[in-house]
Amino acid sequence: MKITVVGAGAVGATCADNIARKELATELVLLDIKEGFAEGKAQDMMQTAALLGFDTRISGSTNDYSKTANSDVVVITSGLPRKPGMTREELIGTNAGIVKGVCENILKHSPNTIIIVISNPMDTMTYLALQSTGLPKNRIIGMGGTLDSARFKYQLSTTLNCSPSDLNALVVGGHGDTTMIPLIKHATWNSIPVTQFLDEAQQQTIINDTMVGGATLTKLLGTSAWYAPGAAGAALVESIVRDEKKLFTCCVSLEGEYGQSDICLGVPVVIGKNGWEKIVAMDLSADEQAAFNKSADAVRNMNDVLKTL
Ligand code: LAC
Repeated sequence: MKITVVGAGAVGATCADNIARKELATELVLLDIKEGFAEGKAQDMMQTAALLGFDTRISGSTNDYSKTANSDVVVITSGLPRKPGMTREELIGTNAGIVKGVCENILKHSPNTIIIVISNPMDTMTYLALQSTGLPKNRIIGMGGTLDSARFKYQLSTTLNCSPSDLNALVVGGHGDTTMIPLIKHATWNSIPVTQFLDEAQQQTIINDTMVGGATLTKLLGTSAWYAPGAAGAALVESIVRDEKKLFTCCVSLEGEYGQSDICLGVPVVIGKNGWEKIVAMDLSADEQAAFNKSADAVRNMNDVLKTL
């Protein structure tokens, strides 16, 4: 198994670190445009192998895509991160050009790969990856909902004082501060609806805190977060390479599912060796479906910006 992570910044490096620790690959390539940066991070990570006990061979490359040849999975983290006060959407002008270039280079050397998109604005970058690679739709996966659902579980767990991994909770829709939809009425604590333990005000606070989860960290850190985004990317890689068939919310191409088409948006999907293998249908209430449609409109407006670049 060979995996490439493009972009050796904080998110890419954290994702690579998780992939190595879990031994998801025999070979892991870290690529970056900054001279020597990916090589340095790769060497530093390799020097943890004897301490952590993994056998993945990690190498770095300064923009030489031939080193990524025949990757089974490629994670794209390239582009600028958010600064405090910025929305993810404001990054489109810069990041669209970067992500398009990365996709073209990846495809030249790994024509059958599965691509996981982390770069922001993630929903539009996933749509761009689908369009610019022409890969089958099941091979293009946007990571956003996986991260947002993990953040939702974190918020729920702190209020309920329970283990985050005992929770089942999904965030669907876009990966934006106003476009994501934490589905609290469907969330359970080991099968018990969480709404049984939370009044309306508590529910609303959890929803709000989840939606601005990334922005809150950007304010605290001065740049966007990396531990959870990197771990979310690695969790998807794990479900692919081990063919786990786990259910995650991911941003995928919709062709009528959830009432939307010609868009990539976050819905529950099964992730396995073929990428996203199936979209799982969920009964949304009228309010939830209306929020999903509104989220789609906002993402579609963002996608339209691609045509003007
Ligand atoms: C975040 C970025 C990765 O939500 O979108 O932290």
